[in-house]
Amino acid sequence: MNLFNQPITLENHLHLDFSQELKEDIRRGLLAKQKRIPSKYFYDDQGSQLFEEICKTPEYYVTRTELELLESIAEDLMQGFQEGDLVELGSGAHWKIQRLLEATDSAQRQRLRYLPIDVSQEAIRVSSQALQRRFPDLAIHGHIADFTGNLIGLKQSRPLMMILFGSSIGNFEFDEARDFLRRVTADLTQEDRFLLSVDRVKPASVLHAAYNDQAGVTAAFNKNVLTVLNRQLEADFVLEDFAHKAFFNLEAERVEMHLVAQRPLRARVKHLDMEFEFAEGESIHTEISQKYSKESALALVQAAGLQLVRWYHAQDEWFSIMELQKAN
Ligand code: AVI
Repeated sequence: MNLFNQPITLENHLHLDFSQELKEDIRRGLLAKQKRIPSKYFYDDQGSQLFEEICKTPEYYVTRTELELLESIAEDLMQGFQEGDLVELGSGAHWKIQRLLEATDSAQRQRLRYLPIDVSQEAIRVSSQALQRRFPDLAIHGHIADFTGNLIGLKQSRPLMMILFGSSIGNFEFDEARDFLRRVTADLTQEDRFLLSVDRVKPASVLHAAYNDQAGVTAAFNKNVLTVLNRQLEADFVLEDFAHKAFFNLEAERVEMHLVAQRPLRARVKHLDMEFEFAEGESIHTEISQKYSKESALALVQAAGLQLVRWYHAQDEWFSIMELQKAN
């Protein structure tokens, strides 16, 4: 059997349920006193691309710091994972997994499979192709799916390393994050691993700059969620009517993003057959980005039934990666 240039397979799990869920989330979110849109709806193809642009802005230290950290720990990590499935939740671009795979040789890669999971078909297609060019000996099975949904059947009889990079866990509230971690690790055994990255608490000025980049990419990313609603639900939001707002909430140790109505206005959402009113200055809360101390990160994973195998952190402690396993 020729193990090289294996075909990339893609499975689409995004079906009607997803738009049903979108409708319900938006109805509930826009009727709430503090209007809100779940941040997972940022990531259509355009949103995923804008997020990649954010990662390249000079202010967004997150991606650079994580990549550097990964490069320095890849050998250690991959030595402990000689064969099995690498399942990357919300895989996006391929840079991070590439760092891990660069620490393997061809013989090891032939014992591994890479399973990226992302809602953006385009992101999976582009990154799988790039990875296959770089590692023709690696089997890649992409899943177009909402990784916060039901991921039944991912665990096979082989060892599994589940990965959530990008500090994406920070986009969940504590209870949501705990429940999510419990759910996705339900089928894992003691031999399996979970790599979870968290962004650390740091000076407010650094955080403010990272979520208010000069070039306005984060603002465009934030507003793009309205384009998603305009397209998916035939809404009539005018993007110019909203301003991007992001700030560090010191007490809660998290960045919050909002879209603020610049004048009193109404927006119609045809698929809900509803109209929503906005006062001038009223906001839609679109994202939280939780920043962690070592203590709060450990409290989260412990609450989710996981235990630390190793704790890795960037030199300046701006970013950490936890290697986890199921608790005894
Ligand atoms: C994907 N997630 C971890 C990013 C973050 O930093 O919370 C999304 C983001 N939002 C604005 N900039 C980046």
